[in-house]
Amino acid sequence: MRIISPSLLAANFKNISEDIKKVESAGADRLHLDVMDGNFVPSITFGPMIVSAINECTDCHLETHLMIQKPHKSLDQYIKAGSDTIIIHTEASSNPKEDLLYIRKNNVYAGIALNPYTDENCLLPILDYLDYILIMSVVPGKGGQSFIKSTLNKMENIVQMTKGRNITIGVDGGVNLDTISKVYDAGIDITIVGSALFKSDNISQRYQDLMNA
Ligand code: DX5
Ligand code: ZN
Repeated sequence: MRIISPSLLAANFKNISEDIKKVESAGADRLHLDVMDGNFVPSITFGPMIVSAINECTDCHLETHLMIQKPHKSLDQYIKAGSDTIIIHTEASSNPKEDLLYIRKNNVYAGIALNPYTDENCLLPILDYLDYILIMSVVPGKGGQSFIKSTLNKMENIVQMTKGRNITIGVDGGVNLDTISKVYDAGIDITIVGSALFKSDNISQRYQDLMNA
């Protein structure tokens, strides 16, 4: 099953609802929202107010990727904003298990993201509390970077590690027409695609090309 979750980081924020409509009519039923705090990563993007505005523009499943330090302090705001899945970073949380349980308790799917050079064995103690794992295939912080090939091995390991469990796995960063099939071949359910989709002249055609690549 191939699923693309368009990353709005690469969309046109002057007219975000138009870009959302374009990917929806191409077939997307989930969207990836990159929240950056200028601390866990150098850039700052947007916060809960924008997540809430996006939620009003669409019925898509919203996966909110929190690239923020001490995520527990802000979970309530992103829950209230209408996130369907909330993804915290294992490197940013002081107590991932507690954060994941809190997200689930609020009827939101709980996800963890893993930087490209973070050992995947850190997931072992928290597998029971996870609905989603986001494997970073670039160092988080900006769009348009090159896919780090060594993460393919990590993808295969995590697919094995989660066999028999109801955990969805996504891959984020540098996914494009050249790399997308390698990711799906590794057993991944969802690819996050930003620039390779929104920077295209024909978003709908590009969505189809990515699905068929
Ligand atoms: C990177 C973000 C990604 C980013 C992907 O820090 O988490 O979601 O938008 O962008 P592309 O597809 O351009 O690599
Ligand atoms: Zn992301």
